[in-house]
Formats: sequence, C-alpha cells, structure tokens
Amino acid sequence: MIRINSNYDKLQASYLFSTIAKKVAEFQKANPGREIIKLGIGDVTEPLPEACIQAFHSGVDEMTDAGTFRGYGPEQGYAFLREAIAENDYALRDAEIQPDEIFISDGAKCDSGNLQEIFSTDITVAIPDPVYPVYVDSNVMAGRAGRWENGRYQRFVYLESHEENGFVPDLPKEKADLIYLCFPNNPTGSTATKEQLKSWVDYALENKALILFDGAYEAFIRDDTIPHSIYEIEGAREVSIEMKSFSKTAGFTGTRCAFTVVPETCRAFDAAGGSRRVRPLWNRRHTTKFNGVSYPVQKAAAAVYSPAGKQQVKRLIDFYLSNAAIIVKKMEALGYACSGGKNSPYIWIITETDSWEFFDTLLNKAGVVCTPGSGFGKCGEGFIRISAFNSRVNVEKAMERITKAMG
Ligand code: MLT
Repeated sequence: MIRINSNYDKLQASYLFSTIAKKVAEFQKANPGREIIKLGIGDVTEPLPEACIQAFHSGVDEMTDAGTFRGYGPEQGYAFLREAIAENDYALRDAEIQPDEIFISDGAKCDSGNLQEIFSTDITVAIPDPVYPVYVDSNVMAGRAGRWENGRYQRFVYLESHEENGFVPDLPKEKADLIYLCFPNNPTGSTATKEQLKSWVDYALENKALILFDGAYEAFIRDDTIPHSIYEIEGAREVSIEMKSFSKTAGFTGTRCAFTVVPETCRAFDAAGGSRRVRPLWNRRHTTKFNGVSYPVQKAAAAVYSPAGKQQVKRLIDFYLSNAAIIVKKMEALGYACSGGKNSPYIWIITETDSWEFFDTLLNKAGVVCTPGSGFGKCGEGFIRISAFNSRVNVEKAMERITKAMG
C-alpha cells in the first residue's frame, strides 16, 4: 500500500501566498469591474536591467550556433558567475568566500526549503516569528515540527520579534541546532547590526549549531553600518550557510537565479559527535537533484556585476525604496506606526486589529492587496505587510485609495 508522508497532514492551511491569491481571485470573480492593486507578495514589476537583458540576448545567441552552444553546465554553476559573486558580494566587503564555495541555483526559496534535508530529523530548529513560511513548512514536511498546539509547533524553538526588540529576536534560552535568520528581514523589514549577528555566530559556535542566513534582500541596505553578509562576522564561516538571490536585487523573480554559499570550513556533526564538513553534503545533494540554471540566465545574472549593471541595479532598488518611502509617509499620516521600508522593500504596519480582517477591509474598501501579518506567525497578528514592489502609478493610486477608505 502506498502511504503518504503523514507530516504533510501537520501543515497548516495552504501556502500563505497561495491562500492570498485564491482570496483575490474570488474577490475578482465577485467584483469583475474592480481594479485590484497588488502590494502583497513581493513580486517585482520593473523590467530587467538593460545590462542583464543584453547579456541574456547574447547568451541565447550563443545557443543558436553549434560552435558556442552549451548543454549541461558545470554542476555548481558557471565559473564566470561564481567568480563575479565572490569578488563583488564578498571580497569587496572583506568577507572571504571562494568561488568553489558558491552554488548557483534557481531560487533562494528552493534552497532555503531544500537545505534542511542534509541535517538529521531529530535536531531542534529555531524559527523566527514572524517568518518567511518556507522555513517552517519545509521542516514540518521533514518531520521536525512535532504537534501543532495553540498556534505553534511543539518541537520548534520560536524566536519572537516584537516592537520591544526592534524586530530582531533575542538569543533563545533553549538549545537550538539549526537557526534560521533573515536580514533585512522578511516580513518586518528590520535589519541586524554587526554586534547582533556576532551574538548569533557566537551562540552557534558555543552550541555546535548552524545558521541558515537568508540575505535575499541585501541589495536594499543603504545604511553603511549594516552588514551585507553574515561572513562579515568573525567565526561565521564555521557556522553559517548564506542564501542570496537575484530575484529582488535585479528583477529575476520570473527569470530565476540565486546562490547559496557553503564555506569549506562550515561544519556539522555526525551521530558520534564527529565534526563533518557541510559543503560536500550540499554538493552531493545539489548535484544529485538539480541540473543547473540555464546558461543565458547565468550570463544575465553575471551582468549585475558589470559597471553598467551595478548602476542600473542601484537605480532599480532606489526606485522601489522611494515607493517604500511613499507608503510609510501615507500610512503614518493615517496614524499607523510603521517599521521597515528603509533598508528593505517591506513595510511592517501595526494595525492593532485582526490581520486577516484588515486584509479584507483593504481589499474590499480600497481594492488593495497586502499580506496579513498573522500569515507569517503568531507574533505577526495585529500587523500587515505592504510591499513596495509595484509601479509608481500603482503605489500612488493604492495609497490614495487607502487614505480615502481608512482616513
Ligand atoms: C514574499 O512576498 O515574501 C516573497 O516574495 C516570497 C518569495 O520570495 O518567495
């Protein structure tokens, strides 16, 4: 008898963004004439930077000629892309990462969901609350969650983010083995200082733990004092894996390209307590189950690091950050306290009412889609997240409609 993985029965509802899409589709069906503005899922709206488009085209052209055609690419990704990443994202920031420690993939979402596979199912996982739901659900699927009680999985250690801690969780009192951190944070938009990240690295070193650091929103950092990578922190190479993505940096949500860094010195432990390098394990997993990102896409991603690409990416991010500033200004004028939106495309807004109710009100009264905070965890109740990813016209229109509906 074929039996299902019963851990799937422990998942709560459907994936957050699928639930929202379903609700919006129902609303549209019931209100066919209404124009909806989506500031929910963080999906980019502006075209790829010109440098990426040119590189993309030339990559496709190379595929049309037998002399330059490429089949399967190198397992970890093309060296030209890994070298550009090592130089620009790491060496220029005094973080020591070698091209061989970088694995190109089709998304930080996939990597953050897949990485847990190389660790034992009886470890303790520390999950921020609120949190990007993929970290939770992938560990539930793997059987690390335990029972669901009072809005929480019993076997997780929850790292709570509140106004009081500036939405940067404190170190847990309990012992955790695998720790998920994301800065600039999704969903709160908060950032962590070097000292805060250092305390997490020290915790991981002391507790033989490992940090999965999601840096998907790193390009939005404008404050020079904020670290761009966990590898700017001493000791991090031993205890951290970092994921980054071209999705939000350069508009690749539909194009798909990201990377994960597993330093040669990063370690975990076997059942006998012996230290084991993590990189060969991830290499084994990656090369067994994944066949790489297409050559033209990797060429397009490498163009992000060209002089023109750097300028164009900066302009793109500045554009979304100025959308964020408009959203913050309007929401604050309506009396809502906001955080995020400065080094992040996400604005985290205190509504002091049920998150889904507020979501429904915005949808019904203003025709604007946001993300209910409670969808990111218990600590997100009473908040909504508004994303700055949209055209200027739509952001301004959405804020006018919200002001009219809620003012
Ligand atoms: C979000 O809105 O949180 C993100 O766009 C989701 C994702 O990157 O998968």
